[in-house]
Amino acid sequence: MDANARVRNNISLDVNHLMVNMVGHQYGMSAEQIDAYQNAAQDAHQAITKNRGTGWLGWTELPYNQDDILAEIEETAAAVRKEFDTFVVLGIGGSALGPIAVQQALKHMHYNELPAEKRNGPRLYVEDNIDPERMEALLDVIDIKKTCFNIITKSGATAETMSQYLIISTALKEAVGDSWGKHIIATTDKEQGNLIRLALEHNFKIFYIPSTVGGRFSELTPVGLLPAAVCGIDIRGLLEGAKAMDRRCQSSQIWENPALLEAVIQYIAMEEMDINVHVMMPYADSLKYMADWFCQLWAESLGKNVTRKGMAVNFGQTPVKALGVTDQHSQLQLYTEGPYDKIITFLHVGEFSTTVEIPHGCEEYPNVSFLGGKTLNALIDAEYRGTQYALLRSGRMSQTIHLPAVNAHSIGQLIYFLEMTTAYVGELLDIDAFNQPGVEESKIASYAVLGNPDEKFQKKQEEMANAPKELKKFIL
Ligand code: PA5
Repeated sequence: MDANARVRNNISLDVNHLMVNMVGHQYGMSAEQIDAYQNAAQDAHQAITKNRGTGWLGWTELPYNQDDILAEIEETAAAVRKEFDTFVVLGIGGSALGPIAVQQALKHMHYNELPAEKRNGPRLYVEDNIDPERMEALLDVIDIKKTCFNIITKSGATAETMSQYLIISTALKEAVGDSWGKHIIATTDKEQGNLIRLALEHNFKIFYIPSTVGGRFSELTPVGLLPAAVCGIDIRGLLEGAKAMDRRCQSSQIWENPALLEAVIQYIAMEEMDINVHVMMPYADSLKYMADWFCQLWAESLGKNVTRKGMAVNFGQTPVKALGVTDQHSQLQLYTEGPYDKIITFLHVGEFSTTVEIPHGCEEYPNVSFLGGKTLNALIDAEYRGTQYALLRSGRMSQTIHLPAVNAHSIGQLIYFLEMTTAYVGELLDIDAFNQPGVEESKIASYAVLGNPDEKFQKKQEEMANAPKELKKFIL
C-alpha cells in the first residue's frame, strides 16, 4: 500500500456527538473540560513512552520486532494449509477472542461453510469454552485425522485449555497413533506452565508469547497471527496497520493523538460524569466480534479495586457489545430513554466489500416501494445516522470510530488504538491495567472445587468451606 493509500485507509475518531455544542450543556463534554487534562495526559503518555517494550508493555513493540517470527508463522501456516482441512484453536479469553475477531472481520462471513476451493484454506474453529455439548459437537463435525489443533495458553496452566488438551491429545492418539504430536501446535510462554513442558516432551511445533505481553494484549503475537495466517489473512498488513496507529500516537498533545484523546474522554466520562457503561456498537457484522474482543480488554484492564499506590477504589466501566442495526430493535430503547450512564461507541464502515441493491417492487405499497433502487449499504448507513441522531436528540453521548474499509490494515490500526487507549486510561486512573486478580481468584477457586492437591488450592478449599452458606429458603 503506498503512502497516500495508507492515509486514505486511516481510521478516525469522531467525537462530535459527545460535545456540548451537539448534545447540550447538561449532558455533553466541553473542549475546555478535555483540555484541562492536558498535563495528566502528557504524564500518561510519557509513562507509556518511557516504558515501551518493558514490563507489561511488550505489545507496544510488536509491530516492529517480529520479522523472524513472521517468516516462521507464514511457513507453518503454509504447511498447515497444505496438510490439514481443519484448524482448531483451543484457548480462552485473550487466547481466543482476538483470533475470533480478526477471522470474522477479514474472512467470508460463512467461511467454514464455503466449499474448499472457494474457502482456500482450512476450516477454522475457535473453541473458547468447555461446554461438554460443544466439545462433542466439534468432534462430530471434524475429521480428527485431518485436523491441526493450536493449543494457546499464555500461562500454560488454564484448566479449561488444559482439559481440552487432554481430551484432544487422547482422541488424536486413538485416531492417528504415534504421529499425534504432528497435529498439535503449542502457543505459550517460554518458561511458565505445563504446556511448554508437554510441548518439548512430545516435540510439538511451538510458538512463544513474549513474557512482556499479557493475554488480552496478545492478538498481534503468534496467538492471533498464526490462526490468521492459516486462514490466509495478510498478517503483515495487520502489523503495518498497528505501526501506522502507533505513529499517530507519538504526540503527548491530546488533540494530536487519537488514543490519548479517547483515553481522556473516557476518563472524564467515568470520573466526572458517572458514565459507567460503554457500549461498542459496530454497524457491520464483520466487526461484531471486535466488540467482544474490546469488552475483555476494557473490563479486565480497567475493572480494579486498588490503585498502584494501594488506595482502595472501584474503578471500571462496564463494556457492552451491541450490533447495528440488529440491536436497534433490542437495546436502543434503553440507550435513548434509560439512565444517563452510557457512552456509545459506533464502529462505522465507509465502504463494504460488496454492494447489494434492493430491487424495485411492491409499487402499490409506497412505504415498501420507496426502498426499491436503493442499496443495503445505503440503508445500513442511514440506520447508523438515524441512531446517532436519536441518541443526540435524547441528550446521550456517542462517538464514532470510522473505518474507511475493513481490511488487515484498518483492523491492525483499530486493535492498536484500543490497546493504547486502554493503557493510557490505566495511567490516568493510576491502576495496574495489566493484571487480573479477579480472574485469578476464580481460577484458583475452581481448581479448589475440583480438588487440585496443590497446597495453594487446598488452602482455598478450606477458605471456601467457611464462606457464607446458601439457604434453601432463597431457592424456589
Ligand atoms: O487477559 C488475560 O490475561 C486473560 O483473560 C487470559 O487471556 C485468560 O485467562 C486465558 O489465560 P491463558 O492464556 O493463560 O490460558
